[in-house]
Amino acid sequence: MKVLVTGGSGAIGSVLVDKLLEAGHEVINFDKDNPKYQCQAAYIKGNILDLSKLIEVTLNVDCIYHLAAEANVDIIKKNPIYSTEVNTLGTINVLEAARINKCKRVLYASTDWVYGSTTVPEVDENTPLYPPAPSHIYMATKIASEMLCRNYSELYGVRYTIMRFGIPYGPRSRKETVAPLFISKALNGEPITIHGEGEQFRQFIYVEDLVEGCIACLNEKAENEIFNLNGPEKVSVKRIAETIKKLIKEKEVKIVQLPAREGDFKGRLVDSSKAYRLLGWKPKHSYEEGMKKYIKWFMENEMFMKIINISDLMVYEDQTVREALQAICNGHIGMALVVDEGQKLKGIINDGDVRWGLVEGKSLEDKVVKFMNVDPIVLEEKDLADKEIIEKKVLALQRKTETNRFIPIVDKNKRIIKLVLCSDLIKALSNGEPLEVRQVLIA
Ligand SMILES: NC(=O)c1ccc[n+]([C@@H]2O[C@H](COP(=O)([O-])OP(=O)(O)OC[C@H]3O[C@@H](n4cnc5c(N)ncnc54)[C@H](O)[C@@H]3O)[C@@H](O)[C@H]2O)c1
Repeated sequence: MKVLVTGGSGAIGSVLVDKLLEAGHEVINFDKDNPKYQCQAAYIKGNILDLSKLIEVTLNVDCIYHLAAEANVDIIKKNPIYSTEVNTLGTINVLEAARINKCKRVLYASTDWVYGSTTVPEVDENTPLYPPAPSHIYMATKIASEMLCRNYSELYGVRYTIMRFGIPYGPRSRKETVAPLFISKALNGEPITIHGEGEQFRQFIYVEDLVEGCIACLNEKAENEIFNLNGPEKVSVKRIAETIKKLIKEKEVKIVQLPAREGDFKGRLVDSSKAYRLLGWKPKHSYEEGMKKYIKWFMENEMFMKIINISDLMVYEDQTVREALQAICNGHIGMALVVDEGQKLKGIINDGDVRWGLVEGKSLEDKVVKFMNVDPIVLEEKDLADKEIIEKKVLALQRKTETNRFIPIVDKNKRIIKLVLCSDLIKALSNGEPLEVRQVLIA
């Protein structure tokens, strides 16, 4: 089957793309950002707000998995209009492209958060959503998108499947979510903090189980149906912390209890048995089994395992950088630290991002666009002394994208001298200190 995945460069989408390929499908990843992990799928860079591009890329596509969205609730709170556009106008564009090209199905990535305003302690797909009272713009955009799927089915016969995801964890998880946050704290020797008794629970789902659920939804029995795809057990915040403490034997992990936060949502049971009854899908990993695999992956991939001396990069020749990166790739290591002769951290590079830049980029600007995923905001080394220039550029960069954290510093010949973390630049400026990257970050 020919399948297009919107958001196929993302945390869940990238795993879905890999699993669809494994299952023998022809896969296209349509995403505004380059893929971060090596993948055999075709990649088309594009924005779901661009309807004509969507119509072009969905020609002869059988099914569309629609995952592209702004999914970070803090970013949504900061950028409500843009996020609502992406999450709802983006969805109707996907549905419209499917209608025009007569695609067989749109499989929409929703969330179990749509049940957020219900008052019952246990929910299934028949539980009313009480749309008049969604508690967050994210939830409103997800409910609206579900409604649009149903409208397009009723009015134009576009078939849909709504997949309500539980909170995934596992390889490639978004860094701001609870599992990677707790794991990186534990590995950095920082205490894990929980509020109150930590009894708030969710049904976390191992990401591979989740994407297998998405693939099970290709079954014709899933046409015009809604499925909860949630984890098998109730997992409290306290249990996450304790599981990490138990599984990370290399460190003395401290768990610190803070006062309870007012209004913390306690959790509600989400029944996913419909997916088992109709599609034969259920999650395979218990929470502890999933966490064991995830922590192993995290330590191998997210930790900085490889150190490159800055002199390797400062030769300025692509070949040298490429060789250094080749070494990282051969070791299957995602991130590298760049240090100076005194072993002081100078920057962090992600092999995938830079490899894209090196292989695909023609000019410096082009390389930077490729590996920064945005139009370049480049600072010349001499500008580092000019607070005003930096502030202007850093602020522009921050406004442009929340995910881009690096700024390339170039010399007068426009050769990249180093990559600097945006936040470090701001910190150094506000303290009036010389620029120096001091912190090892798991980025
Ligand atoms: N992670 C969760 O906790 C969770 C839970 C339930 C549902 N979901 C849903 O699953 C989907 C995927 O979530 P994720 O965690 O992988 O998020 P993610 O942010 O890692 O991935 C989203 C992808 O969409 C792309 N994208 C965003 N805006 C775009 C645009 N305008 N045009 C093209 N591409 C665009 C991004 O570049 C990114 O690669 C989202 O729809 C999300 O709402 C996520």
